[in-house]
Formats: sequence, C-alpha cells, structure tokens
Amino acid sequence: SFLGNRVNVGCAGKMQKGNEDSRDEDVLYHLPYANLERHHDSDNVVVPEVFHEGRATHLKSLDEYKKLYEESIADPAGFWSNIARSFYWKEDFPSATACTYNFDLNVGPIAINWFKGGKTNICYNAVDRQVENGLGSKVAFHYEGNDLEDEHRDITYEEVKDEVCRVANSLKEMGVKKGDCVCLYMPMVPELPIAMLACARIGAVHSVVFGGFSAEALAGRIFDAKNNVVITCDGVMRGKKLIELKKVADEAAKLSQARGHNVGHKLVLQRLGPEKCKVDFVEGVDHWWNEMVKPQSTVCEPEWVDAEDPLFILYTSGSTGQPKGILHTTGGYMVYSATTFKYAFDYQPEDVFFCTADCGWITGHSYVTYGPLLNGASQVVFEGVPNCPRPDRLWRIVEKYRVQQVYTAPTAIRALMVAGDKYVKGTDRSSLKILGTVGEPINPEAWNWYFKVVGDERCPVVDTWWQTETGGHMILPLPIPGLHMKPGAASLPFFGVVPVILDEDGNEVDGEGQGFLMVKKPWPSTLRSISGDHERMQDIYFSRFKGYYMSGDGCRRDKDGYYWLTGRVDDVLNVSGHRIGTAEVESALVLHPAVGEAAVVGIGHDIKGEGIYAYVTLMNKFQPDDDLKKELIQYVRKEIGPIATPDVIHFAAAVPKTRSGKIMRRILRKIANEGSKVDKDGLGDVSTLADPSVVEALIETHAN
Ligand code: WT7
Repeated sequence: SFLGNRVNVGCAGKMQKGNEDSRDEDVLYHLPYANLERHHDSDNVVVPEVFHEGRATHLKSLDEYKKLYEESIADPAGFWSNIARSFYWKEDFPSATACTYNFDLNVGPIAINWFKGGKTNICYNAVDRQVENGLGSKVAFHYEGNDLEDEHRDITYEEVKDEVCRVANSLKEMGVKKGDCVCLYMPMVPELPIAMLACARIGAVHSVVFGGFSAEALAGRIFDAKNNVVITCDGVMRGKKLIELKKVADEAAKLSQARGHNVGHKLVLQRLGPEKCKVDFVEGVDHWWNEMVKPQSTVCEPEWVDAEDPLFILYTSGSTGQPKGILHTTGGYMVYSATTFKYAFDYQPEDVFFCTADCGWITGHSYVTYGPLLNGASQVVFEGVPNCPRPDRLWRIVEKYRVQQVYTAPTAIRALMVAGDKYVKGTDRSSLKILGTVGEPINPEAWNWYFKVVGDERCPVVDTWWQTETGGHMILPLPIPGLHMKPGAASLPFFGVVPVILDEDGNEVDGEGQGFLMVKKPWPSTLRSISGDHERMQDIYFSRFKGYYMSGDGCRRDKDGYYWLTGRVDDVLNVSGHRIGTAEVESALVLHPAVGEAAVVGIGHDIKGEGIYAYVTLMNKFQPDDDLKKELIQYVRKEIGPIATPDVIHFAAAVPKTRSGKIMRRILRKIANEGSKVDKDGLGDVSTLADPSVVEALIETHAN
C-alpha cells in the first residue's frame, strides 16, 4: 500500500519510525551482490551467418552503425530533428529548441525538452497517418485470445482509427479534458492499446496499471494520479485463472474514496459476460463499453499538443515503498519509440511483429502500442500466457501468423527451455528473423537455447537493456549483418545514448571496468519527471553523481566496448523481469498483525532470475509455523499482487543491525543466498554490528 494514511511507507518495522533512514547506509547503491562473473565471457562470440541473406536490413554494416552513432552524439538536436520531421507536425518545432536541457543539479533544476514549441499528436501519427498513407486495410492487431478455441480477430488500421475515435468521444462525454489523467486497468486485449491511443488523441494522460495488481496497489495509483475515469473490463482468463478486474476496480475505487478521492466514471469492457464473470453495476458511474462507445461518432479531431505536453505516466518501483509515476511527454517519446522499434527489430513493411509483454509495463507501451503503430506494423496482441494450454503456445502463434520478430523476457525463455525442446521442434519457425529479449540479464544457457533451438542459429538475439524511465531501448546488439554477439551482453548503445561507468567515488571508468551505469546526455524519451514530485525525481536519478542520469544498474564494459549488465545497485528486485521494491514487500508484511519487523532481499532463482526472500520477526504472542508462513505469503499477494509473492519466509528472532539501529542488508543478502555455506569471515565489515550473535542465529535457521 502506498496510501499516505496507512503504514509509514518504506518502513520495515512497526516499532521504529523513520525507518527510511535504515536504507541509507549500506543498502542504497551497493554494487551488485549477485555477481554475474560467470556470464562475463567476453570472448565467447557468436555470428549468425545467414540471417540477413537475401533480405534488406536498415543497417548494412557495423561501419554504418558507427557513423550514424557518431553523428547522433556530435549533433543530437540535428540528428533527432531529421527523424522527427518524418512525422506529422501541425506546427513545426523551432530548430533552436529541438533539444534544450539541464542534466546537472549543480547548475539548476533538471529540465529536458525535445522539439518544444512543435505541435503534434502521437495518435494521429500512429493511426490516421497510416490510413492516409494507404494502410487502412492493413492488419494492425492480430488478436490471439487466451483460449485456443476462443476469440481471434484481425483489426485493421481503419478499424483501429474508428474505435479510437469512438473511445475518445466517450472520454469527452465523461468530462475528460486535455491534461486529465485516465487510469486503464485492463487485460491484454486490443481495446487496451486502443484506449491508450484514445487518451493521447484528446491530449489526456494515460496511467496503465497492470491487470495483475491488487485493489490496494490500484487504489494507491488512482489516488496518486487523481483519476476521475477508470477504464476496465468485467474479467479475463489468463491461462486457467479467472481475473475479476471489475471487482478489483470497484474495491480500489472504494479504498480511494475512503481517503478522499472519488472515481467519477468507470468504462467497462465486456470480455467474459455474466455467465463467466458477474459484476456489480452502479447507474451513472459504471458504463458498458458496448453501450457507451459503440454509438459514438468515428470522427474526433485530434488535440494538437505541444511536444512537451505529457503523454503518460507509468508507475514503477523504487527503493522506497512508494511507486513513482514516471512521466513521459509526447514528441521525444514518439520519435524515440518509433526509431528504436524500426532498428532494433529491423522492421520491414511485410513483417509481423510479436511482443509478449502486457501494456501494463513500459515494454507494452513502447513496443505494442506506440513503436509498432508509428511504423505501420502488423503485430500479434496475445491475451494469454506462454505455457497454456501447452508450452508450445508462442511458437504456434509464430507459425500461425508467420511472425518475423518475437520479443519476450528471459524468464519466459527459461521456463519454456525447462519444458523441453519437443514443444519447439514440432513447430514451423522458418518465418522468424529476429529474437528479442528484455527485462533482465539473460544467462548464456537461455541465450543459447533461444538462439539454437528456437531460432535454428539463423536469427540474431537482440538483448535490449532499458527501463521504464528511458522510454525505449538504450543498449542492445542491433541486428547488423556480421555483428559479433556475445551471449549475455546488452552490447552497444543506441543512437544518441552515451553510457558512462562510474566507480564508487564518481570517477568515470575508461575502457574495461565496472561500476554504476550512468547516462551522460538526454535522449529523446528520457523521463521528464515523477508525477507530482519533481524533487523526488532529481533526488533519485540526478543527485548521487551530478551531471548524469543514474540508471540504478551495475555494469561492466569489456575490452571490445560491450556493456554487460550486472544487476540493480539499489533495493529493487527483478522478479521474472518485473521490478519490485523490497520496501513495498516489507510494508505489506508489517501490515499483518503477527509481523513486528520485516526485511526483504533478493535470492537467485532458476526461472524467475531473482526470487523474494523475506526475514520476518514476529510479535511476541505469535508462533512461527507453516500455516503462518502460508498466510503471510497470501497476505502479500493480496496487498500487492501475485508478482510479489515471497519465495521464502525466514522467521528470525532478530535481524542484524548497526548500533544506530540500521538493518544490515548486505549481510542478509549473503545469508539468504548462501545459507549455511556462508563464509562468516567473508561478511565484510561487521564492526558496526550491535549484536554479533544475531548473525550466527540467522545462519543456523536459514531457510534454503
Ligand atoms: C530494469 C528496468 C525495460 C523494460 C522492461 C523492464 C532490468 C531490463 C534488461 C536487460 C539486463 C535488464 C534492469 C533495469 N533490465 N532489461 N536486457 N539486461 N537487465 O523495465 O520495469 O523499468 O525495469 O530491468 O535492472 O534497470 P523496468
């Protein structure tokens, strides 16, 4: 929960106040514990020989990439202006303000502007312009429902345009105006990107909340963004599980109202119907999509907005309990999401693209909704999960739609790898051209399986490093003929991106070396702010080392200048490619009456990449047993959502603290990962430990 009047957010203990402090000492910005040394095989090089045979690629050679990259760094404003002007601008931006910025807190507040003064509309560019260019009857979305026997629909650009306009007119009917923020809590159906585009069309800001988040989590976001309109759905099947979105949205609206913010309208898509999913309906507040949207006009003049007007906020986790609403604006995000899509996936007009991400995450924003449509692409929108009904589902989809590019997460690749090659081998993947991955470092085993078994050694693996905050790809091995790929390396920067590695003292590391991954100059889709709290954004990303954007990741640069991500340097976990703040899980745990104190750290996990390990100290009258463990796990799922399910609960009499009461997470991480094998002398500086016996006790009771 991050509603202000509940627990003290970011607080690990009920008894202490100002626990936020305990995060300052050895927790914030540690270079990663889970050292991926075994992944740093810089000399292991793979070059797919045949992938480009007989086909045109946007980039012909490494030299062409280098030339363009250098141009983009020497004159960012000029480089990106040229690309920007291939889009439609109602009013052109003055060349003088194509890029103005301050990246240095020593100089003044952080400010980033791209194409300011220009007037455009991203929905117009993504949809209308494609229709005007003759792509009206081209398929925008191949909708593949959860069930094999179920919904499958092809939706053309013309149809997208009509439906977007109807939804946009419905939003206006509910009183939404330019600058208002609309919450979308929906499953992965085409109506989700359509609703996003409808917001953009009228200059409203969207805040998509992933359909797996709990009522508490949704309420927190609605409350923070002050959404008056929520677009949702009766319910959806994900795999074999029923998810009752409308019920959760109703509960969230109640929670938000109890804190003083009222949701005025809910627009409800009927996906399952009353037989499969009954919903409550309040006259005047709840509106069925079919009743409200269908009768609307298919004409809706786009709102011509400034390039720097907000496009969306998207909440993501950080080091404290409170998710932050990352703000992206219109022009720069449009140009960058479209350009990265074009080059990363080498998109050609006849290709069918397939990204498995949900629009609840940034990947779905940039590489389902915006990037593909801005390029006039056809793509698969998949509502289901990769292993249902069988682990061949993704490859069946590739076969069915003759897909050229798949874009998915290492966690999915690992899960499918474990299921066995037979699920891949029986499918026709000859259409595939590029294999993309995103969300977490990919281990070489999974990389090799993806490359060899899925791609038959024909397709380059494009491992894209980026973040909610960066809006688009930052470091990746672009699919350039002859490029040396190194399994596990994010590889090389995209145009306009200047990565820098800093050591702990803030010195730039030249050549080979490792440290904090920073970015030196703004790229067009740099986050602009945190919704409602610009200062917080400056603190988090720009204050520790002045003059750079701090990514929060650790990184190594090898002798060839390739970048290898080594994991987060803050208290953020990456569980199955999803970002989860340890403080959020702790805040959820301490809400339970049995829990006195909680400290959460990450542990290595074969499928999820990282798992959640929670140390829990109980209140006096409670007994540590398996039932309570189960109850606590359920409790966290209810508070945050299933993605935050703890893997391990370790009942601990006490956790190690410094004499000033700060939790020593470094030690907790080590014990969680190494259990009884932990080298007691290797725990680092323990001289500040208040009671050394606490550590002994934890090692004895370790839970893995
Ligand atoms: C964090 C961002 C980017 C969209 C999905 C996640 C990790 C992401 C990679 C990669 C190594 C990666 C980083 C990053 N991450 N992609 N290819 N290699 N790590 O977006 O939720 O904002 O999470 O995910 O730790 O900071 P996000």
